[in-house]
Amino acid sequence: MRRREGGFKYFAPAQEKSLMFLSRLPTLTITFGLAAAAAAKAPDPAKGKEIFGQCAVCHNATTDEKKVGPSLKGLFKRAKLASGKKVADATVLSRVNEGGNGMPPYKDMLSDEEKTNLLAYLKTL
Ligand code: HEC
Repeated sequence: MRRREGGFKYFAPAQEKSLMFLSRLPTLTITFGLAAAAAAKAPDPAKGKEIFGQCAVCHNATTDEKKVGPSLKGLFKRAKLASGKKVADATVLSRVNEGGNGMPPYKDMLSDEEKTNLLAYLKTL
């Protein structure tokens, strides 16, 4: 009987410890989850170049020659878009999202991550 009690007393703190570990699990999961999300969001111009394959039907990236749409070579080195808006992440992104005048809207065709990578690639042109 005495032995049993001792056993119980011995196990109690151990149980508490394992519970403490469990309670930390969600925090660990969130921490790693966020790190993974941050890594996924780091802009990758190489991936953006693959996505640009869809745009290359209508846009040149290496020559100034116009295709269906204007060349995007040096886009981010220009002061303004054809619309007169300043060349910036937000204005280029909204141009890609909305499309118009012969360009399809990419709002729902590309994920946010794909658009981030695409912008990173456009900046290298
Ligand atoms: C079917 C042809 C077509 C495709 C595909 C296309 N575009 Fe366009 N894009 C156009 C046309 C045409 C214009 C010019 C529209 C105008 O004059 O307002 C344009 C304009 C633009 C502009 C504005 C350029 C400027 O100097 O103002 C950007 C930026 C752009 N496109 C990016 C993209 C990206 C990025 C993709 C791929 C995700 C893409 N386009 C796919 C036809 C296309």
